[in-house]
Amino acid sequence: IKRQQIKDLLKSTAFDTEVTVMGWVRTFRNNQFIALNDGSCMGNIQVVVDFNNLPEELLKRITTGAAISATGKLVESLGKGQSVEIKATNVEILGDSDPEKFPLQPKKHSLEFLREIAHLRFRTNTFNAVFKVRHALAFAIHQFYNERGFVYMHTPVITASDAEGAGEMFKVTALDFDNTPRTDDGKVDFSQDFFGRATNLTVSGQLEGELAAMAFGKIYTFGPTFRAENSNTTRHLAEFWMIEPEVAFADLEDNMQLAEDMMKYVIKYALDNCKEELEFLNARLAEEDKQKPQNERSEFGLLEKLDFCLANDFERLTYTEAIKILKSSKPNQKKQFKYLIDEWGADLQSEHERYLVEKHFKKPVILTDYPADIKSFYMRQNEPDAEGRNTVAAMDILFPGIGEMIGGSQREERLERLTKRMDDMNIPQEELWWYLDTRRFGSAPHAGFGLGFERLVLFVTGMTNIRDVIAFPRFPKNAEF
Ligand code: 4AD
Ligand code: MG
Repeated sequence: IKRQQIKDLLKSTAFDTEVTVMGWVRTFRNNQFIALNDGSCMGNIQVVVDFNNLPEELLKRITTGAAISATGKLVESLGKGQSVEIKATNVEILGDSDPEKFPLQPKKHSLEFLREIAHLRFRTNTFNAVFKVRHALAFAIHQFYNERGFVYMHTPVITASDAEGAGEMFKVTALDFDNTPRTDDGKVDFSQDFFGRATNLTVSGQLEGELAAMAFGKIYTFGPTFRAENSNTTRHLAEFWMIEPEVAFADLEDNMQLAEDMMKYVIKYALDNCKEELEFLNARLAEEDKQKPQNERSEFGLLEKLDFCLANDFERLTYTEAIKILKSSKPNQKKQFKYLIDEWGADLQSEHERYLVEKHFKKPVILTDYPADIKSFYMRQNEPDAEGRNTVAAMDILFPGIGEMIGGSQREERLERLTKRMDDMNIPQEELWWYLDTRRFGSAPHAGFGLGFERLVLFVTGMTNIRDVIAFPRFPKNAEF
């Protein structure tokens, strides 16, 4: 099917040539002006029809949401806000759309409403922009790692292990639950299941990624991960995409540098390649901000925020230093935090993370060397600090407006230390024998991290709910589409 993309035509000066466009009608005014969008850009092209020469029947079918094909001459437009338009000589209806039933009206809909019609929301400018930026960021990530010689690994979606040891897994089964095989003590007998054992959807590709890094040197994964955590927040999904690089012969310092370089690279890529979309989202955000009371308005616009992020080094400090700052901070003393920080060892809540990045440092922050007790089994154990406290070579990268963007660490490469820690945490060694083999055969220092892709898209688009940056969000009590 021959057609031109509206994106190209809007920039074209090939006046008086005949063109064919296909797309979805946004509006049809005065029986004469069609605003047509084909998804190639946010902008519409104006198609002018000569209603005197078109049958009444056809005109009636040019409704918001209908798919049409229009052919005619490209001409310079005299109308405001557009440079070209099409003088249609032929219009064909490809797919009708009942205007009484089509839920998208030519007006601004709330994001909440659009979430209920996630199957149609792509047809709005906001979601066109968001998903173009999402695409660009995904592309930039592959380009970044490709340029640096990393191998892209596809790690399994179905696994038998719990990579984070947090137990937040979705079970995978092919068992017929009306007729479930049971063991003598009444438990479900997973040995009779498809894989001959209990399996689950992966929470992280890290463990498999480590195996590959110990052969290729530098790898990354980029795939869907699943968490059955019951968090109904604007930052959590039950299914999200994660980028997990893993590098052999690297320490925590290298890991921090890689993460900062990657973040700056992909943000710059978006700024360079999604100018129109980001300007649109910037204006959208500014508009939204205007509705808020003065004291709740943001200090910076979206574009300023992204530029600022590129121009400044991320702040780096240890968990222990962060605790000191939090303990003496105003909100902690005035008891404005819901959870007060009075003990070393407590996990930071999002209010603390946000205080550090949004109020104290006002930029992305890399926190390192967390207490061992609140971090995963695979993180490299530091020597006890001056006060005899145990920490691990972990790093979390916190972003303004987001909180935790990245979590990672140098890995424990010493077999004895690792197995001891697993025993202490009741993580069965026999289930991870293959993981432990990397420490038996040519173990080496290595490090990696996980970037939550939707949190990155949130930051770059300035959207506020993670459910608006993934096509069909999965969260508690929701798997409609
Ligand atoms: O901090 P997390 O749990 O770390 C890991 O899974 C490690 N295995 C990563 C690694 O070292 N290779 O998750 C990493 C990131 C978080 O920082 C956050 O951005 C994102 O994944 N994330 C989520 N994003 C959306 N919804 C959720 N429920 C998320 N849980 C984590
Ligand atoms: Mg984490």
